Amino acid sequence: MSTHDSATTPAPDLAVARRRSAELERSIAADPGRFRVLTGDRPTGRLHLGHYFGTLRGRVRLQDLGVDTFVIVADYQVLTDRDVAEHLAEHVEDLVLDYLAAGIDPDRSTIFSHSSLPALNQLLLPFLSLVSVAELRRNPTVKDEIAHSRQASVSGLMFTYPVHQAADILFCKANLVPVGQDQLPHLEVTRTIARRFNDRYGQGDSVFPEPDALLSAAPLLLGTDGTKMSKSRGNAIALSATADETARLIRGAKTDATRAITYDPATRPEVSSLVQLAALCQDRDPVTVAREIGDGGAAQLKKAVTEAVNDHLAPMRARRAELAADGGYVREVLRRGNERAAAIAEATLAEVRATMGMAY
Ligand code: TRP
Repeated sequence: MSTHDSATTPAPDLAVARRRSAELERSIAADPGRFRVLTGDRPTGRLHLGHYFGTLRGRVRLQDLGVDTFVIVADYQVLTDRDVAEHLAEHVEDLVLDYLAAGIDPDRSTIFSHSSLPALNQLLLPFLSLVSVAELRRNPTVKDEIAHSRQASVSGLMFTYPVHQAADILFCKANLVPVGQDQLPHLEVTRTIARRFNDRYGQGDSVFPEPDALLSAAPLLLGTDGTKMSKSRGNAIALSATADETARLIRGAKTDATRAITYDPATRPEVSSLVQLAALCQDRDPVTVAREIGDGGAAQLKKAVTEAVNDHLAPMRARRAELAADGGYVREVLRRGNERAAAIAEATLAEVRATMGMAY
């Protein structure tokens, strides 16, 4: 029927994405000024160790390499899998505090929320015209989220949020998006929209870049019950947890019946995840960490992990507490970030309207 269906991109190939990411890492190291990064999170609660080692740490690294970094607090997106976003202001504050504590520097990175950028949101309209309903239906990540959603029906926002996410990325013409594997289909939507916009309206000029995914080499960190670490499962260790809470959570973590501690993720996932966690905190090799504990067993392992986590997080936790005590600071960071992002969004929207022949 439409050109959309014939131009559908193939399912993103993980091996290809990995190779491309390795290539990108080399280009970033050689010339960080060529890149603009956009990433972000839904404000649904405090970030945990899985977020930290999976994405946060990587963002700080890119920022420190000199890449222009935008971090979006995706507040509208909270409404994709629930009817009402509760405690939103509190979650936004917690999220920004976690960012700042982890090392995102508001003088070098732009932290903003998409609800405060009308021009970003308006991009959703032309972008929606560039994708077919069939394509939206095929998105594997959205399908999966719908399958796991506890909602009685699927909202239009849930169905279209990958297009909204394209607006999040393209409003500032980001060309690099650090993501986990589950976000690859969304990035493919963004690339498709950028390409179609350029083809349909650009008259040979490219208005939008086709951004690349930068796959984070996310280590598999399990929660204390041995399943994926996730706030909603109650098995996560928050970055902002106290040292005592951390000790208690790790003490209760699932292990196995074999005394000698080894690093063998395939056959001993729970023990290996704990070993991995200590190794990540200390920037050491997990095999060495496991060998050192050896016959000390699970008790010794948990003691070592608790110490490693608490030592690693202590400066972040102290900084977080300090910033949290300064009532207006987070709001000021967001105000500045929103202001900078809004100026860029308005310029992009003006360009889009002009390109579409809507400048009247
Ligand atoms: N979908 C992302 C998540 O659930 C959050 C997000 C919103 C995002 N907009 C984005 C990530 C743009 C990368 C780029 O965590």
